[in-house]
Amino acid sequence: GNTPDGGPSSLGFPELRHQLAPRDAVAAGHAIQVVIRWGDPILADAPEHDPRQQSAAAQARQFGYNNDYLDFFPLPAGARSADHGLLVVNHEYTNTNLMFPGLGSGREMRARTTAEHGAIERAAMGLSVVELRREDGAWRYRRDSRWNRRITAETPMRLSGPAAGHARLRTAEDPTGRQVRGTLNNCAGGNTPWGTVLTCEENFNYYFGGEAAESGAQAAAYRRYGILKEPVYGWRRFEPRFDLDQTPNEPNRFGWVVEFDPYDPASVPVKRTALGRFKHEGCTHAVSADGRVAFYSGDDERFDYLYKFVTARAWTPGDPAANRDLLDEGVLHVARFEADGTLRWLRLVQGEGPLTPENGFHAQGDVVIEARRAADLLGATPMDRPEDVETNRRSGRVYVMLTNNGSRKSGQVDAANPRPANLHGHVLEIIPPGAGTGQVDHAATEARWGLFLVAGRPGIDPGAQYHRATSDQGWLSCPDNCTFDRNGRIWIATDGAPEAAGVADGLYAADTTGAGRALTRLFYQAPVGAEVCGPCFTPDERTLFLAIQHPGEGAGSHFEAPTTRWPDFREDAPPRPSVIAITRQDGAPIG
Ligand code: FEO
Ligand code: CA
Ligand code: CA
Ligand code: CA
Repeated sequence: GNTPDGGPSSLGFPELRHQLAPRDAVAAGHAIQVVIRWGDPILADAPEHDPRQQSAAAQARQFGYNNDYLDFFPLPAGARSADHGLLVVNHEYTNTNLMFPGLGSGREMRARTTAEHGAIERAAMGLSVVELRREDGAWRYRRDSRWNRRITAETPMRLSGPAAGHARLRTAEDPTGRQVRGTLNNCAGGNTPWGTVLTCEENFNYYFGGEAAESGAQAAAYRRYGILKEPVYGWRRFEPRFDLDQTPNEPNRFGWVVEFDPYDPASVPVKRTALGRFKHEGCTHAVSADGRVAFYSGDDERFDYLYKFVTARAWTPGDPAANRDLLDEGVLHVARFEADGTLRWLRLVQGEGPLTPENGFHAQGDVVIEARRAADLLGATPMDRPEDVETNRRSGRVYVMLTNNGSRKSGQVDAANPRPANLHGHVLEIIPPGAGTGQVDHAATEARWGLFLVAGRPGIDPGAQYHRATSDQGWLSCPDNCTFDRNGRIWIATDGAPEAAGVADGLYAADTTGAGRALTRLFYQAPVGAEVCGPCFTPDERTLFLAIQHPGEGAGSHFEAPTTRWPDFREDAPPRPSVIAITRQDGAPIG
C-alpha cells in the first residue's frame, strides 16, 4: 500500500538518504550482514587471509577479488530452499594497488609488479561457488563443503559451437583450438532453465598487448575490441600467452559466454561460441511460448550493441542430456531500434546480407569471432554501453540498463539513445509480442520498445526523466545490474554515481506498472569507491544478496590509495570486496 512518504509507490520501506561515506547503509528496519570477503578460505587446507603473505596457491583456494554477478542455487538441487544453497559469484578484475599494500600506484607500481603478483591476480579472478546456510537468522558459508569450487584464469575449459577448432582459435599450447586456460573479467552473468550458470567475459582486452596490436595481421580486429599495444595489466612480461607478438590468437579465445554446472565441482566449463564474441556484461534467459529459449546480452562499450541468441530447439524439462548442448545451435541477433518504437532483431548468420566471404565471413565461426564487425555491417543501433538485460517474469517485458556514454555527440543522438554527453545513463523497456498474456514470444524478430527512465538529477541534469514524485534521494546515476521481485518491481544497482554530488553507488527500487511506475526509491548505499552488483533474492525474498565491488577505488583511477577500509576497518589491511546479505528485522519479505 501507499506509504506516508512514498507517494504512489507500492514499496513499503522508508527511503534512505543519499550519502558518500566509508560505511554502507540500508533503509531503516533492515540489517546488513557480511557473508564472505575477498581472501576468505573456501577450499580444504586454504590458509586464512593475510594481505602481506599472499600467494597464487593460497588465493586459488580462497574467495576471489571484486565480486560481481551473484546467483543462488538451492540445495538440494531442484528444491525451493531459501535457507540453504550454493552462492555463485563472479570475480571480475583486480585492483592491483589495493590488493598489495605498499606496492604504490601508477607507473611505479607497474614497474614493481612481478610474475607472482600476476599469478595471484589470475587466481583471484574467475568465480567462486560456495555453500551457504541460514541458521538462527545468520548466513554462514561452509568451509570445506564438497560443492565449494574456485574457477580461475587458469582453470582448463572447453570451446564449443561454430568457432571451436577455428584456425584463429589455435595456439602453440592448443593446436586444436578447442581447449583454453581460464576465463577473464567475468562481470555479470545469468542462468539457464536447465540449471547451469552462464558467466560472461567482459573487458578481456585489458590483459593482451604487443606490437601486433598496431602492425599485426589481426590489428584491425584487435582494435575493434580495444586491444592496445600497452595493456592495463603487465602480465605479458611474464606470460607469453598474453603477448600478441608470441601468441596472436590468444585474445580470440576470450570474450565468450561460459556455461558450467554449479552442482558438479568437477564439471568442465564450456565457452559457448554461438553466442558471439564481444564484451558480454551478462547473459540472461527468457523462455519463449514455444519452449525455445532467448538469451539477452549487452556489449558493454560506448556505441556497441544489444544482442539476443535464440536456441534452435525447445528445452526439455527433466532431461539434462537433451539440454546439454542447446547453446551450440541457434541464431544470434543484434538490435536495431527504430524511431517509431519498433525493435528489429537482425540475424547474424553467415551468407546472409553482408556476411559474405567477400567481407571475410567464410563460415559462422568468422561471424561469431568478429561479432562486432558483423553487427556494424548489418546496421545495428550503437548504444550507450549496454549492461544488464533482465526479463520481468510478471509482465514478460525486458529491461536494458544503459549505463552512460559521455562521448555521444549531439549529432549522434537517436530515439533509443536520446541524450548527448550521457553521463548518467538510462533504462530501456522492450515489449515482446504477447507480453502480458502469458504467451510471450521472446524468439520473435520484432518487438516494441520505449524508455523506462532517463537517469540523473531531475531538474538539474538535462533530459532526466522519472515519475514526477521521485524524491531528492530517489534519483540514480549509471544503472548497471538489476533484478525483479515477486511483484514485478525493478531493483537497480548502480556503478558510477557522481561523487561530486555527494552520492555513492546504491540500490534503488521502483514499480514497473501502475501509479508508481518509475518512481525510484533509494534502498541501499555502498561504501565510497564501491559499485553495487549482482542483486539476488533468495526464493522467499526474505534475503537480498549484494556484491560490493572495489570498495575504496579512487574516482576515475584504479590506482589510488583507499578511501575506506570496509568492511573490516583494520588500519593495517586493505578494503575487501565482499558479498552482503540484507534482511528485514521483522523477518518479512523485502520490499
Ligand atoms: Fe563490468 Fe559492464 O560492467
Ligand atoms: Ca563490475
Ligand atoms: Ca557491470
Ligand atoms: Ca559497470
